[in-house]
Amino acid sequence: MTGHLQFEVRAANADDARAVAESRAQVAAEGRWILAEPPVDIDAAMEVFRRVLDDDTAHVVVAVDAADRFIGMASGFDQHPGPVTFGMHVLAEHRRQGVGSALLQSILTWSRERGTHKVVLEVWPHNHAAIGLYERHGFVREGLRPRQYRRRNGELWDIVEMGLELV
Ligand SMILES: CC(C)(COP(=O)(O)OP(=O)(O)OC[C@H]1O[C@@H](n2cnc3c(N)ncnc32)[C@H](O)[C@@H]1OP(=O)(O)O)[C@@H](O)C(=O)NCCC(=O)NCCS
Repeated sequence: MTGHLQFEVRAANADDARAVAESRAQVAAEGRWILAEPPVDIDAAMEVFRRVLDDDTAHVVVAVDAADRFIGMASGFDQHPGPVTFGMHVLAEHRRQGVGSALLQSILTWSRERGTHKVVLEVWPHNHAAIGLYERHGFVREGLRPRQYRRRNGELWDIVEMGLELV
């Protein structure tokens, strides 16, 4: 941790829609970390984000710097009677400074408050940063689904399923 990044995690609101959508497009353009691939339709992504904000079974938080500029986000979905599932991303230039951990903590706190029994996610096997983050917070690898998702280039990528039991 470099220790210089000042940030806070707060509840997302409708004013965050563009920053969230554009950051999603940026991370998608990295090509290797999230399910979404370019081109991300910004207007459609903003619409999805606004809908999720209105969903009381979802929890959306953003990390922002001291000037309230967007750094990262996480969104959790309570699939009761199934587990909570979630996704997250941090802008490339702000990674490895504790933002991902803070966002994940917020998802876990919300999950515990809802009384869910388990939190799960899917991650690409090569995403060592994300797997490292999740393992650090107690998640374990529960399985590998071979050739689960088709990429736009035609490749079929495996996915790792991870979970954290809360009760
Ligand atoms: C995964 C991601 C959210 C982590 O966010 P972050 O802010 O960099 O994470 P943190 O700084 O809180 O890291 C916490 C811990 O995770 C692990 N970790 C994070 N990045 C890592 C890396 N590049 N390599 C190995 N471990 C890493 C480490 O244990 C780290 O603790 P440490 O820095 O004290 O060693 C971020 O890399 C990201 O946005 N990646 C692109 C999008 C993505 O992959 N989303 C998840 C899809 S499943």
